[in-house]
Amino acid sequence: MAFCPVFCFGKRLDRNQRGKKQPTWRIFSLKELHSATNNFNYDNKLGEGAFGSVYWGQLWDGSQIAVKRLKVWSNKAEMEFGVEVEILARVRHDNLLSLRGYCAEGQERLIVYDYMANLSLLSHLHGQHSSECLLDWNRRMNIAIGSAEGIAYLHHHATPHIIHRDIKASNVLLDSDFKARVADFGFAKFIPDGATHVTTRVKGTLGYLAPEYAMLGKASESCDVYSFGILLLELASGKKPLEKLNATTKRTITDWALPLACERKFSDLADPRINGKYAEEEFKRVVFVALICAQSQPEKRPTMLEVLELLKGEAKDKVAALENHELFNGPKPGEYNDGLSVAEDSPDFISEDKDGNKEVKEEIASENTHRNA
Ligand SMILES: Nc1ncnc2c1ncn2[C@@H]1O[C@H](COP(=O)(O)OP(=O)(O)OP(=O)(O)O)[C@@H](O)[C@H]1O
Ligand SMILES: [Mg+2]
Repeated sequence: MAFCPVFCFGKRLDRNQRGKKQPTWRIFSLKELHSATNNFNYDNKLGEGAFGSVYWGQLWDGSQIAVKRLKVWSNKAEMEFGVEVEILARVRHDNLLSLRGYCAEGQERLIVYDYMANLSLLSHLHGQHSSECLLDWNRRMNIAIGSAEGIAYLHHHATPHIIHRDIKASNVLLDSDFKARVADFGFAKFIPDGATHVTTRVKGTLGYLAPEYAMLGKASESCDVYSFGILLLELASGKKPLEKLNATTKRTITDWALPLACERKFSDLADPRINGKYAEEEFKRVVFVALICAQSQPEKRPTMLEVLELLKGEAKDKVAALENHELFNGPKPGEYNDGLSVAEDSPDFISEDKDGNKEVKEEIASENTHRNA
């Protein structure tokens, strides 16, 4: 049967029905992508994720693309490919990575995106660009607000609503102006109208996972809010979500940041690479918002619309109220990551992929009380 992702998940999308102003996607031939990427040359490789490798390429018209090539074909991978293409084809927002098209020939599955010249936020915080210190405070603030806009669009404006389920620094890409584009919707879930959450198998990345999602598989918008809180802390502090303290212990970024926030030691929280050059009020706001997002109780977390309002400093009374929030009047033991202990040898990736990540899956499964597919 011919591959048609737009049939797989509900109504078929008709390219002609979409708004005239929206750029359209198209189907690429394998030959064209081979030629654009110099036969998927190793030198063109931008990186590798769970789905497969990503290559830089250039089309005949000179435009630059990023091509994600599925590693191993399987029914599950085909499903994930379908989800990604389906979702990307539906959503268009300035802060979400746009789909240029896809290719499905034989067992080859490839997704074509716009190339993001400044790669991922991860590469600037902890990777190949981290020593260049290209992210000043202003850029970080724009990235925080831009990625919040993208996620808020998925949660509140896309139809049906979408939860991303893998918000993290490698999934925030930066264009040539350092504008944030949230990427990687392969793990996303549609939330049917009226439902508060869907119960699902756990996927995602350790350090960013909301406790109720890691333990019970309960996925809702507030899981993304939790992950976004971790991302904000990472952006402000330059620290990783999980820090290795010694041979047997890792500390979460929230456990590190909350006591400092309670003591209002914001200069200790700031990434040393910013050299103290940040707007104090903005910095404080980002840290407070990050910590209320990353609370263990999902019902206490704000929505992404509230997060945006707070980050932009629009609602002055709500911003002022942050200072007196119960969280910042002294840390309570176990406020974060209740019940989710972090084993030293835990790989940083959790997936339901049987072949790749069996151990992690078992570790999580033993903590779950119910996990439905
Ligand atoms: N459109 C793009 N432009 C530039 N770089 C990209 C693009 N898409 C992906 N990349 C880079 O390619 C690398 C691999 O991305 P990929 O999404 O496959 O894996 P990941 O985000 O590291 O992990 P995961 O599979 O968990 O999402 C990342 O470093 C990412 O920043
Ligand atoms: Mg990714």
